[in-house]
Amino acid sequence: MAVAAGARLTLEDVGHQYGAARVVDAVNLQIDPGEFVTLLGPSGCGKSTLLRILAGLLQQTAGKVSIDGQDVSGLSPADRGVGIVFQNYALFPHMSVEDNVAYGLQAQRLGDRKFIRDTVQRMLSTVRLDEMAKRFPRELSGGQQQRVALARTLAVNPRILLLDEPLGALDKNLRLDMQIEIRRLQRELNITTIMVTHDQEEALSMSDRVALLNAGKLEQFDTPTKIYDQPNSAFVATFVGTANLLDAQLMQQEGHFIAQPSVGGVLTLSSPSPHANVGSIVLAIRPEQWALASEAERPNALEAKVQLVMPLGPSLVIDLLLRDGTSIKLAMPRTQELMFEHGMMLYLKLREGARPSVFSA
Ligand SMILES: Nc1ncnc2c1ncn2[C@@H]1O[C@H](COP(=O)(O)OP(=O)(O)OP(=O)(O)O)[C@@H](O)[C@H]1O
Ligand SMILES: [Mg+2]
Repeated sequence: MAVAAGARLTLEDVGHQYGAARVVDAVNLQIDPGEFVTLLGPSGCGKSTLLRILAGLLQQTAGKVSIDGQDVSGLSPADRGVGIVFQNYALFPHMSVEDNVAYGLQAQRLGDRKFIRDTVQRMLSTVRLDEMAKRFPRELSGGQQQRVALARTLAVNPRILLLDEPLGALDKNLRLDMQIEIRRLQRELNITTIMVTHDQEEALSMSDRVALLNAGKLEQFDTPTKIYDQPNSAFVATFVGTANLLDAQLMQQEGHFIAQPSVGGVLTLSSPSPHANVGSIVLAIRPEQWALASEAERPNALEAKVQLVMPLGPSLVIDLLLRDGTSIKLAMPRTQELMFEHGMMLYLKLREGARPSVFSA
């Protein structure tokens, strides 16, 4: 059986309303053949609704979905060539692993008995479960069950794979194994994949591009690096990774930009991001973008009091309070021979070369 080349998926102004509530709002996305995209966002932002629209399980109330340029409105999931895996992967409990995997092929009459037997065997070896063909779902671990669900979906050779929180039920270590497994399979089969998650680490580590949704709207569609380093909005900066938000005034001084936080001090910026003009701004500073100011720099530095010191593996994370009571976080490598204690005063500046994001207030 030839592997279907990944399909191109296009969403144009896709929207959905339940009654008067607009839960998906004018979403535009161009997903390339073979690309792995995650839909990321807070609970209730419309991720599952959008995935169901792509699958053909729900008809959008506005806009158009096309696969390889063809409008797929009104087509069933099978006619769209779309395969779906849900969080509760719902294997048939009374069927063996191989019968579960064969199910879709038989139901859709996608070949004779030999073809089905060969396909099942190939799928089971792809997900590394050859040895378990005769077992029943109750005799498998959670991760193994999830792999059977994947094999069952992939067996019918979909053009597009849709995954809704497929790893939600797994514990952390197993999750990591499955993340690697899914990515390996996806690359091997070159299948266009859209996965829903609300786990930002999972989204950043697995995706070619991340589509970040907030209240039904697409906030940013970019590579993981761009999402983290060049967020479009304060929402993106705080939802992905940690960002300390500070109100400040942005001004230009002798050819460079400086920010004066309302709590005092002066921060010199390498260059402001394109999201703000001189005037009132919000600065989004990552914990690792802070550095300790030297004695001479203290008059201009931000003053902060140590609340809590957390050694987190290779890093030291320090929770601090600014003069106005704002809580901020600082992270530094743990190799430095520095001691920090509760109540101690620290003087902060921006690390050399750090480019915090700047947004108009
Ligand atoms: N059948 C329905 N009728 C009315 N409202 C619905 C229906 N299904 C979902 N909603 C609402 O639409 C919004 C988006 O729901 P959706 O399931 O897409 O969110 P989600 O991003 O997948 O959230 P989660 O991360 O919690 O799974 C929510 O406010 C939800 O309450
Ligand atoms: Mg959901």
